[in-house]
Amino acid sequence: MVSRVKGTRDFLDLVLFNFLSDEFRQHMAVYNFDEIATPIIEPLELFQRSLGDYTDVVGKEMFLVQGMGSSDKLCLRPEATAPVTRAFLENGIQTTPWNVFSIGPMFRHERPQKGRYRQFHQLNVEVVGTESAARDVELIVLLDRLFHDRLLLNNYGLTINFLGCADDRNKYKALLVQFLNSETGRGVCDTCQQRRDQNTLRVFDCKNPKCQEILTQAPSILDHLCGDCQGEWGGIQERLELLSVSFTVKPSLVRGLDYYNKGVFEFVSDVLGAQSAFCAGGRYELAQQLGARKPVPSLGAAIGIERLMMLFEASERRPLPEKKALYAIMPLSEEQQVLALLVADTLRAEGLAVDALVDGSSLKSMMRTANRIGAAYALMIGEDEQKAREVMVRSMVTGEQERVAQIDLVAYLSK
Ligand code: HAM
Repeated sequence: MVSRVKGTRDFLDLVLFNFLSDEFRQHMAVYNFDEIATPIIEPLELFQRSLGDYTDVVGKEMFLVQGMGSSDKLCLRPEATAPVTRAFLENGIQTTPWNVFSIGPMFRHERPQKGRYRQFHQLNVEVVGTESAARDVELIVLLDRLFHDRLLLNNYGLTINFLGCADDRNKYKALLVQFLNSETGRGVCDTCQQRRDQNTLRVFDCKNPKCQEILTQAPSILDHLCGDCQGEWGGIQERLELLSVSFTVKPSLVRGLDYYNKGVFEFVSDVLGAQSAFCAGGRYELAQQLGARKPVPSLGAAIGIERLMMLFEASERRPLPEKKALYAIMPLSEEQQVLALLVADTLRAEGLAVDALVDGSSLKSMMRTANRIGAAYALMIGEDEQKAREVMVRSMVTGEQERVAQIDLVAYLSK
């Protein structure tokens, strides 16, 4: 038997997936964001230039794609921010901020574990082309209201940090390297030492308890912000408080991709285990890496749908998607099969959900099927009903039944 690719999954029921996507769409409409879609395959160079060669995603997790007979270096997209920026530039979008969202699969060749897949799905939001820190606040509020007010989740927390402007970060990186070269700092693991030379801020992502202990003594970026950045950082926190969004400041939150600056955040939950972040994002600048002449300050976030599903399933307050009442239509013999299809057709044209059990099974077996599929009513048609142009309508809950004229059936079931 051929099996599915490691780290991918079959969704045998998309009810929750679609419910969350639909709620997200409705939520984004309230904030006046437009839905867009970019291709799943992109040039490898797009991500090399934007995410950074030394990030885990570009360094070790890309799925490369080769068209037969082509030498183009393509890949499956690992995230949506670089493609959205590419689309902004390539399509010459002039109106900013460009408020857009998208929904779709992403691919990363990571080690699969609980909540971590090689093909996963994101709900992605981008606000392209704005410097205003009020947009940072609005984005976080948008996400918090989605989780808390719309999806009624309360099993999560928000952590935020501020990575400063490019100048601040360069100065800070030098200080951090100094620390990592110091007597204390030299005790970190080999991976951290490698990161010191290639992608310094990522040392904070090390899970090794000894490294974490050592890094509590490292300088904090928040103590090394310039005047403007201090003002912006203070403003974001103040406004979040004004808008009643609870958060924790985590100076070691650095994010895994190179394009971030200034405000960054993660929504996390203990329910998810080691992969605790179900939504992450922040402010970024990557237009110039992609060839733009001027910077395009932007911000955005992505929600991992699989992780959001786990969180939703673990939540006590979940507003479960309501399913339409289902009718199981049962021809009692082959002679009534066409009539069953005709009646089903009439009901479906009126928007009623009907499962036609036309597989030639016995009544007992059709009743079992009706129970299994959660039908509210069984609509039985035998020889007598066929002759009298009627249907026997039986409630699957109470067992009560009555014969209803076929012509009155829609009105009867709709009441
Ligand atoms: P990210 O932190 O790499 O950011 O991913 C965002 C979210 O996608 C994560 O918090 C997680 O829920 C989900 N996710 C990531 N990798 C996996 C995986 N292997 N399996 C399952 N879920 C996963 C970004 O992708 C940025 N583009 C976010 C952003 C948008 N920043 C600005 N705009």
